This record gives sequence, C-alpha cells and structure tokens, in this order.
Amino acid sequence: MLSQHVDAASMALQFEVLARSGRARASQLTLPHYECATPMFMPVGTQGSVKGLTSEQLAELDCHVILGNTYHLANRPGSDLIDRMGGLHHFINWKRGMLTDSGGFQMVSLLHLADITEEGVTFQSPVDGRPMLLTPEQSIRIQNEIGADIIMALDDVVSSLVTGPRIEEAMHRTLRWIDRCIEAHSRSNEQNLFGIIQGGLDPRLRDLCLKGMMERDKDLPGYAIGGLAGGEDKASFWRVVAQCTAALPDNKPRYVMTVETGLDGKLAEDFSLSPPSLGSAPMCARRYPLDIVVCSALGADMYDCVYPTRTARFGTALVPEGTLRLKLADMKHDMRPIDPTCACMVCQKYTRAYLHAVVTKEPIGAYLVSYHNVAYMMRLTRDIRTAITQQRFPQYVRDFLQCQFPKGD
Ligand code: GUN
Ligand code: ZN
Repeated sequence: MLSQHVDAASMALQFEVLARSGRARASQLTLPHYECATPMFMPVGTQGSVKGLTSEQLAELDCHVILGNTYHLANRPGSDLIDRMGGLHHFINWKRGMLTDSGGFQMVSLLHLADITEEGVTFQSPVDGRPMLLTPEQSIRIQNEIGADIIMALDDVVSSLVTGPRIEEAMHRTLRWIDRCIEAHSRSNEQNLFGIIQGGLDPRLRDLCLKGMMERDKDLPGYAIGGLAGGEDKASFWRVVAQCTAALPDNKPRYVMTVETGLDGKLAEDFSLSPPSLGSAPMCARRYPLDIVVCSALGADMYDCVYPTRTARFGTALVPEGTLRLKLADMKHDMRPIDPTCACMVCQKYTRAYLHAVVTKEPIGAYLVSYHNVAYMMRLTRDIRTAITQQRFPQYVRDFLQCQFPKGD
C-alpha cells in the first residue's frame, strides 16, 4: 500500500518519518525488495558485488541497500544478460534493496574521455575505443533492465571546484534531462526514479535546480544531492547539503551522493602516512563518518561512498576515534582486535597483529578489513537512528565529536 505522503500512483516506495531531532529524522523507507531504516549507509558494489564481500556477508552485516553502477554493469556482464537472468537481484543473489547510478558521472570521472552534449554523454568505449553515446533514455532503459529498487537520473556533473558558465549550463541541462528520464522510465510501479540536484557551490544555481525539480515532484519519489565531495572544503559541502535538505520535500528520502575523487582518495592515504596519534592508535586526517553525522543532523537520509571498502584495501580500519593504520610497525605485536568495542566477526576473531601481516599482501587481509569497515558504517548509522528515536541525538553528536576530536581541533 502506498504511503499517505506519496500520492502519485507511479511510485514504488513508502517513506515514513518515525522520529525527529531538530532537522534530523529517523525514517522507514519501504522499497520493493526491502524495508529499510534511514539514515542509511549503502556500500558500493561497482560490478554488482561489493569488493571483498559476498551478498550473504552484506546481509549478515545488516546492509539494507547496495549500489551498482549502470556503466560498469552495462559493460560487464551487460544489462540485457542481467535482464534475461531475471534482474540483478537474482543474478547476484541479493534479496534486499539495490540502487543504480545513471552512468554518466562514472564515465566523466573515471574515463576523462567523456564529452557532454545536449544529446547525452559521449565517451570512448573502454572495451574497443569506439565512440559511444549514453543518452538519458538509454541510461533509464539500462537501469530498467538491471531492475534496482532505486534508479538515478542521468545528470550533467561537473567537479564542485569548477566555476563559471559551465556550472550553470550543467544545472540547466540536468533539468532538461530529468524530463527525458521521466518520459523514458517504463517501470515506475516497480522502480523509483530519483532526481539529482546540481548547481555546484553556488546557492543561486542550487536554488534554481531545486525549484525546477520541485516542478516535477509528482514524478519523483526521492531526490539526491549531487556534484559534491569532489575536493571542496567541508564547510562548503555542508552548506550545500543544508540548503538542499531545507528545500527538498519533507515526505521523500534525501540521498547525498558522495564522490571520492582520485585526488581526495590519494590525499586521504597520504595524510595517514603521518598521522596524529591517539594513544597507540594512529589516526588519519580524513573524517568521512563525520560527514554522515553532520549530513544526518541536516536532514539527509541516505549515503554511499567507496571510502570504507577502498581504504580497507590500503590497510586502514575505521574506529570510533578515527582510523587505524594496520600497516604501521606498532601493529606488528598488537594482540587487540581492530576495535575492542566492535561486535563484528573480524573483531571477535582476529588481532591487529594478524591483520598487519596480511593486509595489502593477501586478499584475505582486504576482505577482513572491508568486513569490519562496513560493520563500522552500519553501526554508525544504526547508532544515529537510535539516538534520534530516543531523543538524544544532540548528546550523540557531542560524544561522537569528543571521541573523534579529543583535543577539540
Ligand atoms: N556520484 C557522486 N556524485 C554524483 C553526481 O553528482 N551525479 C551522479 N549521477 N552520480 C554521482
Ligand atoms: Zn569490527
């Protein structure tokens, strides 16, 4: 049955806010394949699977939704094959929620070979170098074949560090393309199309995009805030999220799409080479979990990022105090688990010393640290939900900050 909040017959979700604290909300998001709780972290499974984790492990970790990438899946194994296999859920044995991104962003960010015109995104095929065109219509057709619970509009994404007329053009084009996406979407009873707010760091452009999307509100069961975390400072990032969450409808889910650009990812790894110390736990300067706490305080509901699994492969574990670099020499004889307060399978069974020996050397090292890092993200979002529900979210935020920034920096 459809929620009283979402009135259009063409929507395949229910969204019910269960509790609030200021602008933060804890909600129930009912998708065709799963009943989810927000705020929610969604691990990224580029190729249909999350790197290093099986569908069974993701379910065991209590993941509600995983992400797939249209661009990657269309290349391998191909969306027509996935369609014939009964959709991606069937293909990868994942019975819960799934979300696919529209593909254009991945081409622009990964290939650097993409050219954007009004028709769509033109890029060189990574398979044979031939020029290929991804239009809004094709992106939606492919996503309809893949069959995720939530599909994303094809948008014109530019780095948040770009300024000038290109940002304005991309915002207007994103609005023109949303109409083509809505028109092309053939499975609105089973799949939810989310619109994406663009406009860079310019409040005027964000406002125009928000107004434009609201004119299409009856066709859009949810919204994403895009074009962020591409290298801008945190204050700018949070300002845009605050503006968007304040303007987006209260009765629909809000998803903050996170980019980890090569530069940003590299910076994170570089930072952690000379970390400040907290007791014997070396910490890195990158604070992705902080973004989730702040964005949730601002009223956002859904997040994704490759950071927890990518950083695991570089030997970095997420802990309440920040991060733990398992490769550092002082881990070699450390018989403690990654995080003595973590209930995950890895923290129950393996020592830092063992992980130090295998991480970045053996596949098992990356798997185990990825497992813990996803467990950390699930616990983080679960704790946020519980704190909102129990009306103690402000105290939760204070405790979180105290733990991550003990010196008040
Ligand atoms: N992933 C991270 N940011 C974005 C964005 O702005 N648009 C899309 N489509 N995907 C993203
Ligand atoms: Zn753990």
